[in-house]
Amino acid sequence: MIVTTAELFNVAYEKFAVGAYNINNMEQTIGLFRGNVQSQAPFIVQISRGARKYAEPLILEALIRAAEQIFPDAIFAVHLDHGDEETCYKCIDSGFYSSVMIDASHEPFDENVAITKRIVDRAHAKGISVEAELGMLGGVEEDIAVDETHASLTDPDQAVEFVERTGCDSLAVAIGTSHGAYKFSGSQGIHFDRLAVIHERMPGYPLVMHGSSSVPQTEVERINAAGGKLDPSAKGVDENDFAKAVPLGVTKVNIDTDGRLVWTRVHREFFRDTPEGFDFRKPGEIYKKEYADFIAHKNGKLMSAGKLPEVRKAVQK
Ligand code: G3H
Ligand code: 13P
Ligand code: ZN
Repeated sequence: MIVTTAELFNVAYEKFAVGAYNINNMEQTIGLFRGNVQSQAPFIVQISRGARKYAEPLILEALIRAAEQIFPDAIFAVHLDHGDEETCYKCIDSGFYSSVMIDASHEPFDENVAITKRIVDRAHAKGISVEAELGMLGGVEEDIAVDETHASLTDPDQAVEFVERTGCDSLAVAIGTSHGAYKFSGSQGIHFDRLAVIHERMPGYPLVMHGSSSVPQTEVERINAAGGKLDPSAKGVDENDFAKAVPLGVTKVNIDTDGRLVWTRVHREFFRDTPEGFDFRKPGEIYKKEYADFIAHKNGKLMSAGKLPEVRKAVQK
């Protein structure tokens, strides 16, 4: 059942985080739905501009609609990840998306406000909610690369002003995480001090954490042992930190890179161990199961596992 992102946030706020997982193909879609039903968790299916280009918006929509029928217990929202203005309008007008993200965080503050406000006006007229971003995460987002020196944490005063002026429904905050496999070195991690101040200034307001993959060391090692060449210093968010972020208003947690690592590990190991193989359905089957187990595991850490009955009750009222 497709629900609004707002409905999920209402149930989740300060109790658990809703996992927001990107999809690009059929195997990932099946694994995603299976893993969420397996762990009885509500979730958000995210579609990036890159995914729309790779798999075609209509094919992604058809995959999701088919999965909705195959997994009738699933409760989820459909979200545009890191949209630009043009893609946000397309998604709003399509009537398929529950929410869109307008990412104008690379623009000066006033320009970010103006762009976000235009999207909010158009989205709210159709009952769609809007996530915006303030502050700059490091790493690579779609086609924009932000080096660490230009990444900047979200300013709490600006966040309050931004939400007041735009009316956006949730805010992606820069609190030290970044996209991709190389987030932290040494003892770096999430800036909980900054998150706590933002939460204090914006009680009741849902915050979003991007760049939340944990980049497990074992995955990196297995990929490299099967012919990969990932930098062994790759490091992500400690999964146990999700439980600390939830009471501080983090209601949506975006995870993509870790799922890509699962895909890479499964396929590299399969073809290393089966060099004569060429039926891609064989590693595809393994991947669907592994991805489902991965999603169920993440939902445990996000504390969304087991919350489906509560969410069902709330959305059926
Ligand atoms: O933050 C970006 C997400 O990981 C989506 O990645 O733009 O390569 O599809 P993508
Ligand atoms: P990761 O690269 O850490 O998986 O972040 C994904 C993300 O933020 C998608 O918007
Ligand atoms: Zn992101």
